[in-house]
Amino acid sequence: MNEINDTFLIGGDLPVHRMGFGAMRLTGPGVWGPPEDESNARAVLRRAVELGVQFIDTADVYGPGDNERLIREALHPYAPGLVIGTKGGLVRSGPATRANPGMSMNGTEAHIRAAVERSLRLLGVERIELYQLHRVDPATPIEETMRVFRTLREEGKIRHIGLSEVSVEQIERARAVVDIATVQNVYSLSARVHGDVLAYCERNDIGFIPFWPLDGGALAQSQEVASLAAARQATPAQASLAWLLRKSPNIILIPGTSSVAHLEENLAARSVVLSEDDLATLEALSIPDSR
Ligand SMILES: NC(=O)c1ccc[n+]([C@@H]2O[C@H](COP(=O)([O-])OP(=O)(O)OC[C@H]3O[C@@H](n4cnc5c(N)ncnc54)[C@H](OP(=O)(O)O)[C@@H]3O)[C@@H](O)[C@H]2O)c1
Repeated sequence: MNEINDTFLIGGDLPVHRMGFGAMRLTGPGVWGPPEDESNARAVLRRAVELGVQFIDTADVYGPGDNERLIREALHPYAPGLVIGTKGGLVRSGPATRANPGMSMNGTEAHIRAAVERSLRLLGVERIELYQLHRVDPATPIEETMRVFRTLREEGKIRHIGLSEVSVEQIERARAVVDIATVQNVYSLSARVHGDVLAYCERNDIGFIPFWPLDGGALAQSQEVASLAAARQATPAQASLAWLLRKSPNIILIPGTSSVAHLEENLAARSVVLSEDDLATLEALSIPDSR
C-alpha cells in the first residue's frame, strides 16, 4: 500500500488527504494578534489549497480570532472538500512565552457555546466540520464538556468531535459520552511520546493529528536527519514528515509555516518514498526534543 498519498476518513465519512496544514503560525509573535504581513498569510493559505490541502487546523485562541478571520478572508467560499478544523476550550490572556503560555482552560457550557458561536461567525460557516477540545479543563469533568459538544452536534453546529493533549483514559471517558473522531497530541521524530494514544487511535479508527510535527522547526535543521534525507533527494523537514505519514495510516499531518516556500517544501513530502530500512534508520535516531 502506498501510505504516502492516501486519505483519512474523519469520523468515518469525511475524507481528507493526510497531508494538511496547521495555520497557527499565521499570527503575531507568541500566537497573539494578526501576523505582521496579512497578505502573505492569505497567500500561504491559498497556495495550500491550490496544492491539494484538504484539512486546515486552526483554533479560536490563535490571534485570538485573527487566524479564523484570515482563513475566511483568504478562502471563503470554501473549495468543495476543504475541511477546517478549529478548537475551543482555552482562554488566552496575552502572548505566549516559554515561561508563560498565557493560557487557561475553560470547558464549561457557557464558554464552549460562546466559543462555537464566535468560530462559526469568524469562519463564515453554518457548521464546523471538526470541533476539537483544545485542552481538558481540570475544573470541569471531561464528561460534562463532552455533553456540551454532543448537544452542539445535535443542534447541527458541529459535525465531528476531536480532543487535544489527552491520555487514553481521557479519550475513553469522552467516548462514553460521544463519538471521538480525532485526537491531536504532540508527536514527532524527536518527541515520540503518546505511542499508546496513537495505537489506541489505530485500533478505534480515530484520526491522530500530531502537533509540532517538525518540533517547532528544529527538525528542518536536524543534522541527524540530513544525510538520510539527502540520499532520498529530500530535505530534513520532508523526511521527518514522510516518516510521520508512514508511521501510521491514522496520522493526519498539519505542519505549520508562515512561508510559501516552506509550505511547498513540506507538501512535497507527500512524494518522498522511504524504504523499510529508511524507516528503521529514522526510528533508531536519538534526536533531542527541543520543547
Ligand atoms: N493542539 C495544540 O495544542 C497545538 C499546539 C501547537 C500547535 N498546534 C497545531 O499544530 C500545527 C503545527 O505546529 P507548529 O506550527 O507549532 O510547529 P511545526 O509544524 O512543528 O513547525 C513550524 C515551525 O517550523 C518552521 N518551518 C516549517 N516548515 C519549515 C521548513 N520546510 N524549513 C524550515 N523551517 C520550517 C516554521 O517557520 P516558518 O514560518 O519560517 O516556515 C515554524 O516556525 C500548528 O500550526 C497548529 O495548527 C496545536
